Amino acid sequence: MGERRFSGRRVIVTGAARGIGRATADRFAEDGAAVAVVDLDAGAAQAAAEAIAAAHGTMAVGIACDVSVRDQVEAMVAEVARRLGGVDVLVNNAGVTRDNLIHKMEDEDWDLVMNVHLRGAFLCSRAAQRHMVEQRYGKIVNISSTSALGNRGQVNYSTAKAGLQGFTRSLALELGRFNINVNAVAPGFIDTEMTQLTARRLGHEPEAYRQMRAKTIAIGRVGVPRDVANLVCFLSSDEAGFVSGQVVYASGGPETRRG
Ligand code: NAI
Repeated sequence: MGERRFSGRRVIVTGAARGIGRATADRFAEDGAAVAVVDLDAGAAQAAAEAIAAAHGTMAVGIACDVSVRDQVEAMVAEVARRLGGVDVLVNNAGVTRDNLIHKMEDEDWDLVMNVHLRGAFLCSRAAQRHMVEQRYGKIVNISSTSALGNRGQVNYSTAKAGLQGFTRSLALELGRFNINVNAVAPGFIDTEMTQLTARRLGHEPEAYRQMRAKTIAIGRVGVPRDVANLVCFLSSDEAGFVSGQVVYASGGPETRRG
């Protein structure tokens, strides 16, 4: 295949075995990148990487890693650098929800969500930026959420996603001088296993819940993982070279809690 937008680029996407991360890894590969599909589940990461490589004729490796554990993250980034030859793009996408009203929220629900989203983004970014600073080139995209604006039943998740926005701005200020762009994408309602589980927890069938949510979205439909993937890829491309420290909402309308 000829020259594509991300030919020669080496990309890490965390939480890429399914959902938005999977679609993002796929989108990068479609445009020629070599991708590291990083996830908790080794088998699922490996299977996703094989499917991506087969679909796009690019290199894709599956790597098991818990992004909230420093030694695993350090080993993962070293393995990517060794197998793909470097690191140009990092997408901090791995995420979990543990929703509950505050009076029912356990310490563990708070800690897990903070650790995966915030500590995870910190550890992965710290490890990846070493490679980016050295080569004076890099792109980091953090996945925030409209929940950052406030969402009942999500004090933990909302706090973590708002925290990622501050992380994005501060990191952009630190790394700009090394030609590294740092941005955040804040999706609204995207149809994935995460939101299907939310639907069931609230007592709805996923399809009925999607239709209900679509009515609250200006563009008249819920999002699909590729909607987010397209924006992440744009922000990781050289066309967006003068965009940094920004939070871009992908929610089918203006930034509101409901999106
Ligand atoms: P998902 O639940 O379908 O996929 C998340 C992936 O992250 C899974 O493959 C999971 O194994 C992995 N993961 C979880 N903890 C991990 C850890 N400690 N280390 C490595 N991998 C881990 O979720 P979805 O919907 O694809 O969400 C992806 C990101 O987008 C998350 O950060 C989520 O908070 C965010 N988001 C999702 C929205 C939606 O409506 N689905 C809206 C706004 C943001």
